[in-house]
Amino acid sequence: MDNRKLTSRRRFLCLTGGLAAGMVLPAIPSTVRADQKEGAGALNPVEDLMREHGVLRRILLIYDESANRIRRKKELPPGVIEDSTHILRRYIQDYHEKLEEEEIFPRLQNDERLNSLIAILTTQHEAGRRLTDSILEFFKPGTVTPTKPKTEQKTEQKMPAAMEQIYGGTPLITHLLGKETPEMKMTAKGIPHSKQDLLIAMEQFVRMYRPHAAREDTVVFTAFQSIVSPRKFIEVGEKFKNRGRELFGEHGFEETVESVADIEKKLGIYDLSKFTAEA
Ligand SMILES: [Fe+2]
Ligand SMILES: [Fe+2]
Repeated sequence: MDNRKLTSRRRFLCLTGGLAAGMVLPAIPSTVRADQKEGAGALNPVEDLMREHGVLRRILLIYDESANRIRRKKELPPGVIEDSTHILRRYIQDYHEKLEEEEIFPRLQNDERLNSLIAILTTQHEAGRRLTDSILEFFKPGTVTPTKPKTEQKTEQKMPAAMEQIYGGTPLITHLLGKETPEMKMTAKGIPHSKQDLLIAMEQFVRMYRPHAAREDTVVFTAFQSIVSPRKFIEVGEKFKNRGRELFGEHGFEETVESVADIEKKLGIYDLSKFTAEA
């Protein structure tokens, strides 16, 4: 990472992103450290994956807070779930998880101590993508209509139809509806069509991904690091860096963290001191 090009705000966000994720980085073999000197400041592939888990964990917090507010019928700023889910899809599922599936999992799946774990993690990636499809489907234009169209009051800040329905708890995807009730589960296509279904999809996602990321951090990444040669380790790191640059530009991570932080600010959960225990 070339910090010289970063604004002070971005440097701050980069740091807070790492700290918020509670990252504990494994020891790097001295040979690898020596090889990395030419790219001083460059992250190795495990550090890269772990900081991406930091992004994931912050989105899980956004899901937690959003689901909580919907349940308690509290204000939820428009765009929060949709925007965070788009980041999740693009940065975590289409980038981070693809790298795991291409570079990490194949190197471990022939190890009999790890193969069942790798199979579960792969299945969870697939389940996560289905849940994300469902959540995004909820916000597609034209898939919802307001139940009680509000008259022109507050026209400037009119709540999007999807959000009106979240609060209203009425069926959401009208073109799929017969006599569905708000309490009905996913449709055959896995599309949520009530606020209850949106909540279920988000909560299932959070429940699955917290242990998923924790297991990768504590078992999978360290196993990967221990079986590949130092040279291969660096090579994989280069691949990660190049893919990230291709997809997101030079400062893709910092900009992603910044986008997540903006959503946290909208929700009022950016200030880390709010999470400090009172005891
Ligand atoms: Fe994963
Ligand atoms: Fe991961």
